[in-house]
Amino acid sequence: KAMEMVKDFEEKCATPLSRLRQVSDAMIVEMQAGLASEGGSKLKMLISYVDSLPTGKEKGLFYALDLGGTNFRVLRLVLGGKGRGIINQQFVEVSIPTSLMTGSSSDELFDFIVAKLAKFVAQEGPDFKPSPCRQRELGFTFSFPVVQTSIASGTLLKWTKGFSINETVGRDVVEELTKAMERHGLDMRVSAMVNDAVGTLAGGRYANNDVVAAVILGTGSNAAYVERADAILKWHGPLPRSGEMVSCSSLIPISEHSIASTSFLWKNRVANGISLKVINMEWGNFKSAHLPLSEYDLELDAESLNPGDQIFEKVMSGMYLGEIVRRVLSWMAKEAAFFGDTVPPKLKVPFILGTPAISAMHQDTSPDLKVVASHIKDIFEITNTSLKIRRVIVQICSIVATRGARLSAAGILSILRNMGCDTITEGEERRTAIAMDGGLYEHYTEYRKCLVNCLNELLGKEVFESVVLELSNDGSGIGAAILAASHSKYIGCYD
Ligand code: BG6
Ligand code: GLC
Repeated sequence: KAMEMVKDFEEKCATPLSRLRQVSDAMIVEMQAGLASEGGSKLKMLISYVDSLPTGKEKGLFYALDLGGTNFRVLRLVLGGKGRGIINQQFVEVSIPTSLMTGSSSDELFDFIVAKLAKFVAQEGPDFKPSPCRQRELGFTFSFPVVQTSIASGTLLKWTKGFSINETVGRDVVEELTKAMERHGLDMRVSAMVNDAVGTLAGGRYANNDVVAAVILGTGSNAAYVERADAILKWHGPLPRSGEMVSCSSLIPISEHSIASTSFLWKNRVANGISLKVINMEWGNFKSAHLPLSEYDLELDAESLNPGDQIFEKVMSGMYLGEIVRRVLSWMAKEAAFFGDTVPPKLKVPFILGTPAISAMHQDTSPDLKVVASHIKDIFEITNTSLKIRRVIVQICSIVATRGARLSAAGILSILRNMGCDTITEGEERRTAIAMDGGLYEHYTEYRKCLVNCLNELLGKEVFESVVLELSNDGSGIGAAILAASHSKYIGCYD
């Protein structure tokens, strides 16, 4: 019976290339619908107000707050200007108490964050004092869906991942942060607010000019990419005026095609009539009948903080992979006495099995799978598992990770297709770089390998070789600080 349950689960999670192409087709339809109108799709395709990406000329002392990943971070960066890069960088990292993520008020959460920031600033040495005429400036990475009204304002649409504080929804989160800074007497100005995917794109771009998209695979999952402003039908505001990037066929005006297709070009709107905007897809909320879902996924969703939402995220991101495995094991214990006559009590505890444990068990290379045995003992208090049981556990971890990684590849394919970067003409030298961040991508080697292999299968060798997935560690906090610099009130009077 247990083996039948595993086989059935494997079939339901299957991701053959044909299915992944259907997922990608459906995602592209949703992307277009989301760009066409507000509320036009489950994919929000949020406009980021980042119209020009970092150039390397940014200079001075800037701060960032990074909220929404596993840990909350406060960063300080000194940018050298004129391609000198980051000349000093420091950060502190703390985890947000669970009680503040769900049970608290908005003020309590923002007070906690600002208290950490205030302490960080209070402890810095004289080297980091801004000149007396300058206020300290901050980039705020806020890794949740926000409808922005400018580069430094926007209202929270909903919380995702482990957060749920009702009163913040619908409020301007920069205002919430600013009010908390006032309460703490902290004299700082928020110059830019970005989603982590947008921040990662900006940070990745600072390091590498070929970066045109970013993907987060961490607690949650999301992507951002550069889109033609004229393809965003719901955008009625002014078109950006700064220099903009042109890349891949769909972003290149017909007349420029032959020149531009050999490399990425920087043009300005006056010259070629195209301007670009960075879109925060919020792809975690993608949903399609083509997604391979099992009863365990449906059950997880129904019992989650946000039922019906973030379905794509719930089958591929770090917050949920371990929980899916736990649910499968728990049903096998109940229905097939997989761990003996009774169901071990710890198996019933939601989220007790984290994705780092899945990663460690999946990648256990010892002949007797002793890593699996010790995790099962430590987490579930189940002792003396047979080698056969351990092998089945590895198989379940592999099924869940493989599905997640291959669906991520299908998501990346959709972005590449939308930008026209999924084909290449003979002799064309082109590099499309995607900045990647998040603990899942960084630490779960098998997941990462599986994603990369699947992208190769989907794109074909030649196109695949033009695509570079670049780990951009902590990229979004850095990106936010750099964007604070490029949106500084003091541009031109840094020193
Ligand atoms: C970090 C980014 O490196 O990755 C964060 O700076 C982001 O902004 C995070 O949210 C996502 O990863 P995780 O694994 O911490 O959720
Ligand atoms: C969730 C958030 C999204 C964020 C992602 C990765 O999907 O809604 O804004 O980018 O997690 O952190």
